[in-house]
Amino acid sequence: MPGAGKKTVAEFLKMKQRGEKIVMMTAYDAPTAAIAAEAGVDILLVGDSLAMTMLGYQNTLPLTVEESLHHCKAVRRGAPDAFIVGDMPFMSFYNNAVKESVLNAGRFLKEAGCNAVKLEGGADSANLTAAMTAAGIPVMGHIGLLPQKVLISGYRVQGKNEDDAERIVNDAVALQEAGAFAIVLECVPLELGRVISQKLAIPTISIGAGIHCDGQVQVFHDLIGMFDGFTPKHSKRYAEAGKIIRDAVKSYVSEVKEGVFPDDAHSFH
Ligand code: KIV
Repeated sequence: MPGAGKKTVAEFLKMKQRGEKIVMMTAYDAPTAAIAAEAGVDILLVGDSLAMTMLGYQNTLPLTVEESLHHCKAVRRGAPDAFIVGDMPFMSFYNNAVKESVLNAGRFLKEAGCNAVKLEGGADSANLTAAMTAAGIPVMGHIGLLPQKVLISGYRVQGKNEDDAERIVNDAVALQEAGAFAIVLECVPLELGRVISQKLAIPTISIGAGIHCDGQVQVFHDLIGMFDGFTPKHSKRYAEAGKIIRDAVKSYVSEVKEGVFPDDAHSFH
């Protein structure tokens, strides 16, 4: 039975009350989890973004509970004391199937040692949030842009007009009332991030929702600059890891081809 870390959800409420920012980052494997924990990341999210960043899928929809649990277990092994949130994959929770959803959520705690689960969805996920919370499973909400609804809404900034903004505020309030301990706000205008963060007692965690939120979350591969091409506007590249890795592998290939590696220093006598 894996350990479940040392922090409880109460810690994040206190951080909000103290005005201390919460740092969350995705992690999908043991070495990255260990680096993140050592660097002081407060929450490790085994995001369903792992479908794209690690598994080569086009979007998050194909990810299964089994695939996700496999990565959650690795993250727990790499960071035994960390607060780990497991992201519930598309169709592993559904508001007409409360019992099955709660049992799926429970697997993240029982089998992988996660401290909490994250569910995409607003007021429509409130009944599930309440049922999971009642079962002792801490729930992080996720509103605004919902990657699991990509086939319906695309990857567009949400809450730009008054009606949509009001709907998102109502989603946030419904999730708080249902017992969520924190809520991810994805890709909403800065001002809406501020309004929701001030209205809620529980912490808001922004990805593209601005500086006024109580914390920030970034996808690990975006912040280390792993992939070329499109970088989301809300992501900052703190390194160019993709280039460093490509250069290293190219150097290895050419040294072997040229008969330079292994040299004497890397040989046994
Ligand atoms: O899967 C993920 O990485 C996420 C973050 C974008 C919040 O849900």
